[in-house]
Amino acid sequence: MYGTETYTIMIPSIFLVLAFCDVLSVYSQVAKKPNIVVIMADDMGSHDMSFLGMNQFYTPNIDAMAAHGTIMNHHYTPNLCTPSRAAFLTGRDPMNIGMQHYVIPNEEPWGLPLKEVLMPEVFRANGYKTHLVGKWHLGFHEKEFTPLNRGFDTHFGYYGGYISYYTHSTNCLILQGCNLGVDFRSGFKTNFTVNGRYATDLFTDEAIRRIEEHDESKGLFLVISHLAAHTGSETDPLEAPPEIVEKFNYIQDENRRKYAAMVYKLDQGIGKVFLSLKRKGILEDTIVLFYSDNGAPTRGIFSNAGSNYPLRGQKASPWEGGIRGTAVLWSKQIRKPGYVFDQVMSVTDWFPTFLKAANIKYCGKLDGIDLWDQIIGRRRMNIRRRIVHVLDEIFGYTSIRDAMWKYVNGTVQNGLNDVWLGTIGNETDGVTEHISVVKYSKVGQVLSKYFTITSEKLKKIKSKLKISCPSRTVIACNPLEKPCLFNINTDPCERINLADNYPKLMSYFDGLVAFMQWKAVPSARVAFPDPQSNPAFHNNTWTWWGSNDY
Ligand SMILES: *[C@@H]1O[C@H](CO)[C@@H](O)[C@H](O)[C@H]1NC(C)=O
Ligand SMILES: *[C@@H]1O[C@H](CO)[C@@H](O)[C@H](O)[C@H]1NC(C)=O
Ligand SMILES: *[C@@H]1O[C@H](CO)[C@@H](O)[C@H](O)[C@H]1NC(C)=O
Ligand SMILES: *[C@@H]1O[C@H](CO)[C@@H](O)[C@H](O)[C@H]1NC(C)=O
Repeated sequence: MYGTETYTIMIPSIFLVLAFCDVLSVYSQVAKKPNIVVIMADDMGSHDMSFLGMNQFYTPNIDAMAAHGTIMNHHYTPNLCTPSRAAFLTGRDPMNIGMQHYVIPNEEPWGLPLKEVLMPEVFRANGYKTHLVGKWHLGFHEKEFTPLNRGFDTHFGYYGGYISYYTHSTNCLILQGCNLGVDFRSGFKTNFTVNGRYATDLFTDEAIRRIEEHDESKGLFLVISHLAAHTGSETDPLEAPPEIVEKFNYIQDENRRKYAAMVYKLDQGIGKVFLSLKRKGILEDTIVLFYSDNGAPTRGIFSNAGSNYPLRGQKASPWEGGIRGTAVLWSKQIRKPGYVFDQVMSVTDWFPTFLKAANIKYCGKLDGIDLWDQIIGRRRMNIRRRIVHVLDEIFGYTSIRDAMWKYVNGTVQNGLNDVWLGTIGNETDGVTEHISVVKYSKVGQVLSKYFTITSEKLKKIKSKLKISCPSRTVIACNPLEKPCLFNINTDPCERINLADNYPKLMSYFDGLVAFMQWKAVPSARVAFPDPQSNPAFHNNTWTWWGSNDY
């Protein structure tokens, strides 16, 4: 009778597990679901927001969001587009889902593994309409990998890493002899009719349309994943409307001038999104987050003249300049406007944090932690964090933070960009009053009824956010020779290598890395560009060449 007994005991326990762990089922019956709007910049420099003290050009709408919202001062992302977006949408560390190595070139047949559950899937199962506007970059070689099959109800934008701002086309990254391919979709259909229109405007207009047409009996989950400030066309990378570039003609460096114009368009778009939320009457029920997927590439491939100064390094490097980017969040629930949140956090934290804000129970595996109460100021506490910024077994480099310690072993490009790049930007543009541009920005006006921004307030925020590097002589680090160690609390600029002073700490980190490498899911990258992907075979478009129906 053993068999029967086991049987009767087994059934209910399996049943229980299923009942509690059907990851997508609806649990929450919240009366009013907060809307979630995420505005993501691409490759924008971590120093390139004027509320941080950058005074070469202004970002008035972002600044107003910061002055009215919470400023995440230690917000970490992976150092490249694909891992960063994978981490955000899954709440998992890239090394736990095979996304730790490199980005997806258009012609490589791989993507974010299909077994991973994405944030929009969970929100959709809990009564939300889910929209992706703009960039995807998590794979499209087969149709199953594209956004409409990964939890988004609608998509308007592109599948690859970047497109030209006006023609919306891209060349191959690795293969030679490809045709240029259009990479722009409305849903599953390539959209040729918007050809010639500036991508940032298209994305802003689409976001506004989604807000205006939103059915308020549902929640709104809207990700606006901008092309700006990534480079566009391969032949003319920094693209912005000439009349906007003209506004910045006081900036000497032509590339920086165009970059300022690209960021200006992005900033204006944020203003329009706030205005549209207000007109629709849903602003007070909406949480708006802004951040950049990773630091700017100041030089080299896709360099956009963005600045991460005074942080070290840039996009794709193991240094703070590639991974630390300030995020700002606005919600009416925030108790103290302009609050500088000093908790070390990871982009994987947004998934659990938004779940908490929306009161959704979810039992899938997440690596991030919920920080909602801390972010809105209902609770203050500092949680010790360990964040693996990079664990790339193929390029062979590692970047980890644990409490105040940062460990770096190995690097990319032979250390070419392991230096301090970019500009402080102390050329001023004649707009003497930062406060007035912030106040009279669209975001500033829309939010003015909640709180009055003063120049004292802006000054206080700037001084709190100022990154001070030790004036001591640099103690060199060559992570190609041996691992380095920095105290990020006292040395955010990674100038003083303390590895020789802390041998025990170094062996702790060495052991940790070995353990994590053993535990990591192997990279999902299929590093074989497939000639079949060539747009020449697909009416000069980029499409899912591995699936038959297109
Ligand atoms: C292309 O996008 C525009 C702007 O959203 C839209 O009006 C048009 O209907 C789209 N075309 C197709 C073929 O989907
Ligand atoms: C540092 O990285 C190099 C290159 O990937 C590797 O060979 C070495 O084992 C690493 N050192 C430690 C202590 O992990
Ligand atoms: C900033 O101003 C100082 C003094 O006017 C000047 O020496 C320096 O070169 C400027 N730096 C930048 C990055 O423009
Ligand atoms: C092929 O591309 C052109 C634009 O270059 C477009 O007008 C046409 O509709 C496309 N054909 C098909 C079958 O998609």
